[in-house]
Amino acid sequence: MEGNNVVILAAGNGSRMKSTLPKVLHQVAGKAMVDWVISAVEPLLPDHILTVTGVGAEKVQDHLAGRSNFVIQEKQLGTGHAVLQTKDFLGKAAGSTLILSGDTPLFTTKTLEALLDEHARTKAAVTVLTAHADDPTGYGRIVRNDEGMVLKIVEEKDASITERRIQEINTGVYVFDNQLLFESLSKVGNDNAQGEYYLPDTLDILRESGQPIGAYETMDFDESLGVNDRVALAKANEIMRTRINERHMRNGVELLAPDQTYIEPDVQIGQDTVIEGNVTLIGKTVIGRHNVLTAGTRIEDSTIGDHNVITASHLEEATVKNKTTIGPYAHLRPQAVIEDEAHLGNFVEVKKATVGWRSKVGHLSYVGNAVLGQDVNIGAGTIFVNYDGVNKFDSQVGDRAFIGSNTKIIAPVTIADEAITAAGSTITKDISKHAMGIARSRQTNKENFWDRMPHKK
Ligand code: UD1
Ligand code: CA
Repeated sequence: MEGNNVVILAAGNGSRMKSTLPKVLHQVAGKAMVDWVISAVEPLLPDHILTVTGVGAEKVQDHLAGRSNFVIQEKQLGTGHAVLQTKDFLGKAAGSTLILSGDTPLFTTKTLEALLDEHARTKAAVTVLTAHADDPTGYGRIVRNDEGMVLKIVEEKDASITERRIQEINTGVYVFDNQLLFESLSKVGNDNAQGEYYLPDTLDILRESGQPIGAYETMDFDESLGVNDRVALAKANEIMRTRINERHMRNGVELLAPDQTYIEPDVQIGQDTVIEGNVTLIGKTVIGRHNVLTAGTRIEDSTIGDHNVITASHLEEATVKNKTTIGPYAHLRPQAVIEDEAHLGNFVEVKKATVGWRSKVGHLSYVGNAVLGQDVNIGAGTIFVNYDGVNKFDSQVGDRAFIGSNTKIIAPVTIADEAITAAGSTITKDISKHAMGIARSRQTNKENFWDRMPHKK
């Protein structure tokens, strides 16, 4: 894309969203709508990307910092007026300008490329991207003459009854000859139902001045969805989720209930991994091959190797190597590292701790600020007591150590290889190799106590 510019319109207040957040920052599949738009145009390698901001300008600019230049539209007087704000920047430029809205998150680079190709081929003054809508409500309609030539775009609020029946809609994406864009914009008025300066009016103006105008119809209406309210936002999420999930399925990932699986766009998943419904994969998560993730699993910013079975568990910023079994109901928190063939059972929480090769933490335990060697066995109800209210302390458990059930390990403590703790112990001192630490009061039995029980009196 040589000598070409992109303008993204993102100044509107999005009043139909009924939100304090600027419309274009509402998320679709975990990314702001305007992110999707800019991500679709970046591969076209434009010379400049210019975003028009207004309502919530600072937030939008922070969000796109480094990826776009910005101009401010102080008052939202319409899409034509918004584009006019870029005149200082683009007014003298040659070449062409691609214009998109920040609230149409579903366009693919491929469709935009096809539009640009069509524009270059026909040498029109402007080429508008159109689509056929089963329900065109809310969109501008493409008005053509009997020969099929585009005459103008009419907004729904200004359309006659006949025009409203037209199902070919304006997607809000256009390529203009840059000089003719600014020439025609200066002639756009605001004598219409909304009292706004409409960008689409430039088509009529250009045609009347004898310029060739054209339209390129994309076959996939879904890409054109404009998000003006929360109903459309939910629809956009659904379309994007389907797109993401189908990509994974085509790559060899098995989704047992794809419409109930939420996978964010940057997540990577290897072949032959099987994912049940009600699984959520978030952020920069990377998952290898041949894993099974069952319903109720939620994994965020974590790295999972191959051949693991993760059952109804939550993971955040955790690392799981290979052939582990995790859950049900395990909770892996930041810096949890689970080595090959380890096992975490139900109600086990691991935070900033390594569970070594083939080690087992079977039931109801908390492992925090600790390094567990290989083949360690942690009995049920073991707690690593790592926090005194101010500081955290670390503990080590050596290879093949056997931690009896209900042990409290008061950090900092080092338990050597092949050391043992007696069940129910509160361990406060280091334990050397092959030793057993026992720290609990000795049991005494009071004989013939039954008759002294209160209920017998
Ligand atoms: C617009 C088009 C309509 C098209 C539809 C496609 C106009 C007049 N209408 O309608 O033909 O079918 O998009 O989705 O262009 N914006 C500004 N400044 C403004 C007004 C709007 O930056 O003063 C931005 C908005 O933030 C938004 C985009 O322009 O990102 C489109 O505005 P919106 O109000 O959503 O237009 P639609 O009614 O959807
Ligand atoms: Ca819109």
